[in-house]
Formats: sequence, C-alpha cells, structure tokens
Amino acid sequence: MTTTAPLAEPIRVRGLQKSYKDLHVLRGVDFGVARGSVFALLGSNGAGKTTVVKILSTLLKADAGTATVNGFDVATRGAEVRESISLTGQFAAVDEILTGRENLVLVAQLRHLKHPGTIAADLLERFSLTEAAGRKVSTYSGGMRRRLDIAMSLIGSPPVIFLDEPTTGLDPEGRIEVWRAVRELAQHGTTVLLTTQYLDEAEHLADRIAILHHGRIIVTGTLAELKRLLPPAKVEYVEKQPSLEEVFLAIVGSEGKDANADLDRSAGLDGSTRLNGSTATDD
Ligand SMILES: Nc1ncnc2c1ncn2[C@@H]1O[C@H](COP(=O)(O)OP(=O)(O)OP(=O)(O)O)[C@@H](O)[C@H]1O
Ligand SMILES: [Mg+2]
Repeated sequence: MTTTAPLAEPIRVRGLQKSYKDLHVLRGVDFGVARGSVFALLGSNGAGKTTVVKILSTLLKADAGTATVNGFDVATRGAEVRESISLTGQFAAVDEILTGRENLVLVAQLRHLKHPGTIAADLLERFSLTEAAGRKVSTYSGGMRRRLDIAMSLIGSPPVIFLDEPTTGLDPEGRIEVWRAVRELAQHGTTVLLTTQYLDEAEHLADRIAILHHGRIIVTGTLAELKRLLPPAKVEYVEKQPSLEEVFLAIVGSEGKDANADLDRSAGLDGSTRLNGSTATDD
C-alpha cells in the first residue's frame, strides 16, 4: 500500500491495537474514510480517539494492525504520511508570543509557500480574525486560539486533515464557523477525520460516524443508518426520530456509566450534549 494514485479511501485502518502498559486502549480498530468526506470518531473520554489520531499522524506506533494514510503505511512511510496530512491537536499549538498573522505567515514560510502574507490574510478573513490579526495570541480568547490553530492547519492544503476535538471550548458562533470551514474543505476534496464528544457536531458535520467503545469501533454508518438502528418512538401523535444521542446510549448502554464515561447533559452554552464535560489532560 504505497501508491500515490488517487485513492477511494485515503484513510484505512485494519486491526489497530495499542496498549499503554497494562491499559489495552485499542483492541482491533477497523475503519475507512472515503476521499472528500468528513468522518467523525465519537467516543467517551479515554475511549482512545486521540490515540487513533496520533497513530495515523505517526506520533505514536501501533502495537498491531495496519493503517495507511494517502496510500502510505504509517509504520513504514512516516515522512510521506506527514507530508500528506495536517493535524490540529486537542490542545492549541499556536505561538503565544507571536500575533495571529505572524503565526500564519510563519507556517506558510515553513511550508515554503509563495505569498505567505496573502495566505495569512485570506485565512484571517475566513476565520473572522482580521481585526485581531495584529495582536499577540496571548491576548486571544480560547475560541480565537482554536480558530487560529485550525486556520494554521489548512495552510498548504494537505489532502488529509485530522482534527482532534476541533470545537471544544468554542462558543456557538465559533463552532459554526469551524463547521463551515470543515464542510468547505471536504467539498474541495480534502478528507477529514475529526474526533468529537459533541453528538450534535457529528450530526451536523459528518458524512459517516463511528463510535469507538471499549477499544473497538462498535458501529459505523451515516447518521440515517445509525438512526435506523433504533425504531422511531411514538409520542402521542408525533413521530419522533431517535437522536444520535439515543442511538449512542442504546448501543453503549449502561456500561458507559462509569466515572470515565458519564454523560454530562449540563455542558454547553448552546444546549449541546457532551459525552463528558471535562477536558482531557491525560495524554
Ligand atoms: N501516553 C500515555 N500513557 C499512558 N496512558 C495513556 C497515554 N495516553 C493515553 N493514555 C490513556 O489511554 C486511554 C485513551 O486515551 P486517549 O487520549 O486516546 O482517549 P480520548 O478518547 O482521546 O479521550 P478524550 O475524549 O478525553 O480526549 C485513556 O485512558 C488515557 O488515560
Ligand atoms: Mg482525546
């Protein structure tokens, strides 16, 4: 699997396993992501989403199984994989001392692109950061940093983009901006793998959704396919379609009720539901 020909599935994962000492986090993960689609990896805190993203972006080695990105095996063709991807990690990787514009220009220069200033200006505009462009990032809100971080990941137009919890900590408007940008990417043929704990994010954005639970993908499908797993519930005269949250809970069931996987329904200014209200610091 080392071809550079256009691939139907720029991300292919088969039998992926990973342990941290005694903790068997991934126990045989399988999935594929079609070109130009948005794939959401959904799971509770600690399910192993970041671990999958780290393996696919060559930051971590799997114990078993195979994964190819843009046709390159992550285990043997790391350099080519890294040239094919961009990764926006769970925690913003922007430089605090630089301004927003300087961060973008720096990345464009590192990628040897022409007209770094124009690239920066376009992205600042697209992510509503033009007014703040000349300010140091240390003065930005969490949401502004997040938007800048994602803008930086788009520089150079890599064919495959990994977004690890791209909208965690964003206000509703910030989330909508990010969603719009992600959709645009996919429309232009970029393949996007995102992880999220926001069920509504997966509902809005993803062409396909996979639920990672107890080390395996326990279900994959379009939102409509996932909803078909549950019969519509009748409430008086109104036929109600199950939400993704109900599908998730029916599949994951009461096992998800340990301290690590409680549903926190109170989270989110916008009334959205998260699988767990806390932000991970465990990796
Ligand atoms: N470097 C590490 N050493 C030991 N354990 C780790 C390490 N990285 C992750 N883990 C553990 O592996 C499990 C999976 O972690 P991972 O970060 O992949 O989960 P996640 O699904 O991304 O969670 P979250 O939603 O909280 O970001 C967790 O129990 C975590 O504590
Ligand atoms: Mg994570």
